[in-house]
Amino acid sequence: MNYQAILNVIEKELANFDAGGKVPTYIPELAKVPANKFGLNLYCQNGEHFNFGDYDELFSIQSISKVFTLTLAKKFGGKKIWDRVDVEPSGDPFNSLLQLENEKGIPRNPFINAGSLVIADILISELENPKKYLLEFVRKISNDQTINYDESVAASEKENGYRNIALVNYMKSLGNIKNNAEDVLDFYFYQCSLKMSCYQLSKAFMIFANKGKILSTGEKVITTNNTKRINAIMQTCGFYDEAGEFSFRVGLPGKSGVGGGIVAVHPGQYSVAVWSPLLNEKGNSEKGMKALEELTSLTGLSIF
Ligand code: DON
Repeated sequence: MNYQAILNVIEKELANFDAGGKVPTYIPELAKVPANKFGLNLYCQNGEHFNFGDYDELFSIQSISKVFTLTLAKKFGGKKIWDRVDVEPSGDPFNSLLQLENEKGIPRNPFINAGSLVIADILISELENPKKYLLEFVRKISNDQTINYDESVAASEKENGYRNIALVNYMKSLGNIKNNAEDVLDFYFYQCSLKMSCYQLSKAFMIFANKGKILSTGEKVITTNNTKRINAIMQTCGFYDEAGEFSFRVGLPGKSGVGGGIVAVHPGQYSVAVWSPLLNEKGNSEKGMKALEELTSLTGLSIF
């Protein structure tokens, strides 16, 4: 398969694609990012990689970080994490409060904000320094020591994070947050502020394409079973109330972030990250989705 030729076609075809949509203004620091950025990196099981555009530029990974924190929570929190967060699609926006009241403060899944805040709470209980641990983990699986948090993005979200503040306090009132609400928010805003490129993200996500093993070192960092489960949750919940649409159009497990990034995984084949900052109404990168739809259509390689 000539992946680079296919990527060149996608780049050309989408050069003038009008994605519509907006950059997120509720995190003012993200609203400053140029809307016309566009890049993609495909990382293959055999170690080859292919790309176009702004694939090497750092951006805010936002909710994509929820996959990394879930991975760590599975490692340290074991099975009992499922008593505190469910694995069902929510069909609601990523920051919705609605279902919590009827569902005893148990979020529908670990990828909506409520669920990831519970995961953050679990990591604070389990790890002495969760910020440091998470950063070291992401650096290790990406084989890249330069990856870091963006403190200005974390601060920008902290100043304006009314929805997440409400979610944490509401779940605390229902008994599903054990630590101090401010500590949970602080860790959560930091995890979301991780800045990575499409190249780094696709490399990191190879663990989900490679049965939990880091491609470059062969070290197994997630069990095969947990890799299966995390991919399943990406498939059913990775795009909030657009998870069905993403499955339908792209046919891969994946995760989006309001920084405009999307990562998707084809187990046993490749991992791919795309970045285009304009978001549709569901908070997902419209052009990113289109690029991935083209990728699985032109290669004929989706999991379905
Ligand atoms: O908590 C928030 O609202 C953001 N830090 C992350 C949301 C996000 O990335 C949703 N993804 N599409």
